Amino acid sequence: MGSSEFQSPRVIKAAGLPYFTPANNGGAALNPEDPSTPTLFRPLTIRDVTLKNRIMVAPMCTYSTNPDPSSPAIGALNDFHIAHLGHLASKGVGLVIIEATAVQPNGRISPNDSGLWQEGTDSEQFKGLQRVVNFIHSQGAKAGIQLGHAGRKASAVAPWLSWEGKKGSIRADESVGGWPSNVVGPAGGEEQKWAPGNVKYWAPRELSTSEVEEIVQAFARSAKLAVQAGVDVIEIHGAHGYLVHQFLSPVTNHRTDKYGGSFKNRIRIVQEITATIRAVIPDGTPLFLRISATEWLEGNPVAEKTGSWTMDSSTELAKLLPEFGVDFLDVSSGGNHRDQKVEPHGNYQIDLAGQLRKVIQQAGQKTLVGAVGLITEAEAAGQIVQGADEAVATEELLAGQEPKADAVLLARQFLREPEWVLTAARKLNVPISLPVQFARGLL
Ligand SMILES: Cc1cc2nc3c(=O)[nH]c(=O)nc-3n(C[C@H](O)[C@H](O)[C@H](O)COP(=O)(O)O)c2cc1C
Repeated sequence: MGSSEFQSPRVIKAAGLPYFTPANNGGAALNPEDPSTPTLFRPLTIRDVTLKNRIMVAPMCTYSTNPDPSSPAIGALNDFHIAHLGHLASKGVGLVIIEATAVQPNGRISPNDSGLWQEGTDSEQFKGLQRVVNFIHSQGAKAGIQLGHAGRKASAVAPWLSWEGKKGSIRADESVGGWPSNVVGPAGGEEQKWAPGNVKYWAPRELSTSEVEEIVQAFARSAKLAVQAGVDVIEIHGAHGYLVHQFLSPVTNHRTDKYGGSFKNRIRIVQEITATIRAVIPDGTPLFLRISATEWLEGNPVAEKTGSWTMDSSTELAKLLPEFGVDFLDVSSGGNHRDQKVEPHGNYQIDLAGQLRKVIQQAGQKTLVGAVGLITEAEAAGQIVQGADEAVATEELLAGQEPKADAVLLARQFLREPEWVLTAARKLNVPISLPVQFARGLL
């Protein structure tokens, strides 16, 4: 028997990898149907994809790809991403969402961002992504990718280079792989800088209508490649003041073409991106949308003239998502204006998710909702989703006791505590499967 055919009776080789490593599936409840299993550890099926639990790694830029414009490896995920994201996968999360990945070169936040704009399945970007996805799968997790365009916030250096005094981003010029003359947005000029008058950002130039149409196509091209590389879930980045958010908000969108003006025109970019992506990905592939549910500019002089993107806007958009083919609304907030007024605390963002979920449920729609922001404790995470897999009685909805979300996304807590899922299971008394190589330290 050749070694490639050998299977130990107890250790199954992980599929899809060119070397032997045991197939893992940590973080799955041993008795998912048992009524005592909290919803957090019950599977979640979205279209054809079943997540073993409702815990997701939120997308997090790591500014760790090759920035060299002359290198074929520019923007390609590499061994660092396998080590980092693969480790989180091996420690039991249901879904790992790969960091904001640019659909065009000038859509990167920094020259070190991940990208997926190279054509074909032979590119370094494609192969890098495929390796990360294969490893995530080998650990029993599903892989998502967040596709985005940084718009006017692009061509900044990695944050650790700009941390002096916590003063925020500083411009990346050509000498470090930046693209000062090709930073773009729905509107252009000095006043449209992320921080007007501030030398730390570039002034964007206004995109032409046909350039916006090209960006829409670029999202679809990247989504198709991602699925070909094995990605299970596509997320569109429509939050945090990046390009899609800039189009949604009247604060940053002053266009007079079909992409500006009315609410209908400002959300057109989302409508077109979702439609073109849906047309090129399989029916069974879930589509997520991350938004900033509010810009926190209500009552702020900034929004007096133009208005801003508010919870009312998000409510209107949420109701359209089934029509757009979006399955999951990932609810974040802020990031589109320096004068936003918000003090992040406790449930500040979870409540936004809860409000949107309530609207969706009351409309009889099935769009799922993700809660993110300051989630650190197992009990709190459990409460956010508890009962989300059951029909919620109207009295509960009225009494505000309904679940706030269908899944939780954690970001910084996974940087502090990569084994968060496993400790959460212990705290909530949920028997789960363990990743085999770590079991002796966890039993
Ligand atoms: C290092 C870092 C990188 C991030 N990168 C992204 C990103 O690529 N896309 C995105 O939508 N949000 C990004 N975020 C925001 C997180 O996804 C998350 O929404 C936010 O950190 C709040 O969640 P937390 O309190 O669990 O950290 C990033 C956050 C951190 C800390």
